Amino acid sequence: MDDPRGLRWDGEDFEFIEQTLLPHEEKWIRTKDWRVVVDAIKRLAIRGAPAIGVAGACSVVLAKRCSADKIEFEQAVEAIEHARPTAVNLAWAVNRLRDRIRDIGEDEEVLRRLVEEATAIANEDARMCDQMVEHGLELIPDGASVLTHCNTGALVSYGIGTALGVVRRAHEAGKLKHVYACEARPLGQGARLTMWELDKLDIPGTLLCDGAVGSLMQAGRVDLVLLGADRIAANGDTANKIGTFQLAVLAKRFGIPFYVAAPSSTFDLNAPDGTSIPIEERDADEVRNYRGSQISLPGVKAYNPAFDVTPVELINAFIREDGIFIPPCEFPVRRP
Ligand code: MRU
Repeated sequence: MDDPRGLRWDGEDFEFIEQTLLPHEEKWIRTKDWRVVVDAIKRLAIRGAPAIGVAGACSVVLAKRCSADKIEFEQAVEAIEHARPTAVNLAWAVNRLRDRIRDIGEDEEVLRRLVEEATAIANEDARMCDQMVEHGLELIPDGASVLTHCNTGALVSYGIGTALGVVRRAHEAGKLKHVYACEARPLGQGARLTMWELDKLDIPGTLLCDGAVGSLMQAGRVDLVLLGADRIAANGDTANKIGTFQLAVLAKRFGIPFYVAAPSSTFDLNAPDGTSIPIEERDADEVRNYRGSQISLPGVKAYNPAFDVTPVELINAFIREDGIFIPPCEFPVRRP
């Protein structure tokens, strides 16, 4: 077994695996430049809500080291915070760093605090994943066949991941029969990344087109749906990779439990419900093309929201680092 990993941070340099090249090439990029990290977040070379948060925090440190003055640093921090809009972990992490240096004038002390906070965010993320997967295990029946969407394993965190971390733990505990992974068009995070992680971990998995889910459920081959989130509103409405909402509707149709695994850093208690979650709309070429090849006429119109919002009434439980929450419920404010 070969442990998959997506990020490394030593307080000086930031390293990430270039996810756009997976599964065919495992290339690590080491950088001291915050712009390289922001570009990687925009290109989805670094992706997944918790990973974006950790990368954002570390890139604030990199920005501090290379900014000539306060204004340049603040502009860099703004650019980092807005690299992608939907996963709240990014703004959450950047604001934690901002809070940590509020009213501190001396440059060396600012840098020391930023390094400390970014490192704490990374390490907490790994710890939250470990705690989350132990809680998640309670929801997995023996011999379960799990359907998942997008990619939610080690690549999306500083630890073993969220929903795919639970799958991994269930496999170790001998409870998992099989995992089905949706391809997650247009960028294929399921096809490229989840299947890569499953292969590394020797977990039995089957890939399916997003459109094959209804037929798989109808055939009685799914015991539960387990996936991650990019932002969860105070009432539990959940933004996640496009296609999640229709999985939830289908799961309801077939009476299949639908679970969301996400750390408290993904909960936005300032958003009362899903209507306040900003949804990223990405370049239409991602739909018109596939991995560099045109599959449609160049000029056709394409609709390409990166995420959708699943209403809380379709969700049976949330798995967090501090336990299982069954809606309707109140989510506790996060305490690091
Ligand atoms: O556009 P992506 O690949 O960053 O989208 C990622 C997802 O939607 C994941 O399911 C989500 O971030 C949860 S990962 C813990």
